[in-house]
Amino acid sequence: MRNFTSVFDVKDIDRLVQTALNYKSNPFIDKALGQNKRIGCLFLNPSMRTRLSTQIAAQNLGMEAIIFNVGSEGWALEFEEEAIMSGNTVEHVKDAAPVFGKYFDILAIRTFPSLKNREDDYSELYINQIIKYACIPVVSLESATLHPLQSLTDIITITENFKENRKPKVVLSWAPHVKPLPQCVANSFSQWMNVWGKADFVITHPEDYELSEAFTKGATITHHQDEALKNADFVYVKNWSTFNDYGKIYESNPEWMLTNKKLALTNNAKVMHCLPVRRNVELSDEVLDGPNSIVTQEASNRVWAAQAVLSEILRANG
Ligand code: CP
Repeated sequence: MRNFTSVFDVKDIDRLVQTALNYKSNPFIDKALGQNKRIGCLFLNPSMRTRLSTQIAAQNLGMEAIIFNVGSEGWALEFEEEAIMSGNTVEHVKDAAPVFGKYFDILAIRTFPSLKNREDDYSELYINQIIKYACIPVVSLESATLHPLQSLTDIITITENFKENRKPKVVLSWAPHVKPLPQCVANSFSQWMNVWGKADFVITHPEDYELSEAFTKGATITHHQDEALKNADFVYVKNWSTFNDYGKIYESNPEWMLTNKKLALTNNAKVMHCLPVRRNVELSDEVLDGPNSIVTQEASNRVWAAQAVLSEILRANG
């Protein structure tokens, strides 16, 4: 593996999941692998889980992790080619990224979409420019359209929690929110589930909240949440803003919030959410605090996902 920006960087998802679970059993087994190696983690946007889990994963492999909150503490970066930099940006990625490439062995970066211009966001300009100019392996800590470390974590968590000799039914259920959020987690989860192919995957959302077919193709999609929830083994709750009329939030119909009444329609489903979560908006207290919630286990698995990915990159790139 050279870079990790989507499921298509992974040769064998199940093998990567096993690597992650092996690290969960024995976190320090590869402590020598990253000795004298350094990872730079650049954050253009806020984070709690991604930042801490990546740092812990790197340390478990013996790497030094340096966090740089470039969005709030660094020079404002310009990403457009041939930009006339007479505005607010101070340094071009063409100049900054090669420096990162000299300081670090692996570069990881979190960016968010603007949610204003769909073509710009879906071109993934920021992470692509970093890959182009840093010339070292690059890991996505969430990009404009995808969150692959979260999705790998989610498959690890499903694998851990389902031992029956059949495919689990996994439902991605849109949830209300007070502000427009990126489509990244939903896009990425859909992409990984479809490529993985080890679950009956259903997406449910209100009309007008269709995601890009580039990620959902292969899933069953319905606007009827109750129908989708029937016999579900896992319900992944997540808000996203509109894709077609880009970056909008039309309504926050509380009927879409997962409650114990809705959970009763499922096959005693485990409930997932990537966090952070708006309590009693996206998910009710009764579900989050109840026995079916596996959100803390899910978040804790972020460490093992990151450790598995970093170990593959270290092994492949010396
Ligand atoms: N799920 C997730 O990416 O959390 P953070 O935004 O806190 O990193």
